[in-house]
Amino acid sequence: MSMAATAPAPAGSGGDVLSVRDLRVWYGTERGAVRAVDGVDFELRAGETLGLVGESGCGKSTLGRGVLGLLPPGAETDGEVLFRGDNLLTLPQKDLRRRRGPEIGLIFQEPMTRLNPLMRISQHFEETLRVHEPELSDAEVRQRALDALRGMGIPRPATAPTRTSSPAGCGSGS
Ligand SMILES: Nc1ncnc2c1ncn2[C@@H]1O[C@H](COP(=O)(O)OP(=O)(O)O)[C@@H](O)[C@H]1O
Ligand SMILES: [Mg+2]
Repeated sequence: MSMAATAPAPAGSGGDVLSVRDLRVWYGTERGAVRAVDGVDFELRAGETLGLVGESGCGKSTLGRGVLGLLPPGAETDGEVLFRGDNLLTLPQKDLRRRRGPEIGLIFQEPMTRLNPLMRISQHFEETLRVHEPELSDAEVRQRALDALRGMGIPRPATAPTRTSSPAGCGSGS
């Protein structure tokens, strides 16, 4: 899991972009509630990187999902996730969805399940843009997706015939 927050903090905020206070997450299961994250605190300032290390199953992904409001149904959270002054845990879904992508995002680790081999790589970018920036026209969406691919050094993304235009041609490096 990697978490990233972009752009500088607003003036007067003291520099914290993300401030997590006593974050708790439970999963509802048939055998009762499973406590997966139990009182996590951290701050992230503009330009800082925070690494989170721990054995498999210790709650790293749950923490990332909890911060972004991407937990499965039945999961419950408690605490505070202040992102540029707003508590993401209590923000309406509609507002949260608009901010995920342009401002804060979660990059999933598993390339084989996160990239759909039946879709061109550019379509993955287009799908994300359509969800997060619904005001963009089809042409703008297409252009932004191609610009992103070009920015990563993929030559002629609009016409690249095979390897680089399919997810299978893109290593994840994870
Ligand atoms: N959807 C879920 N329902 C119930 N328990 C879950 C669910 N997802 C994860 N867990 C449990 O929460 C704990 C933390 O998992 P996870 O956050 O995936 O750990 P990590 O990313 O550090 O490997 C584990 O005990 C895992 O089994
Ligand atoms: Mg994980």
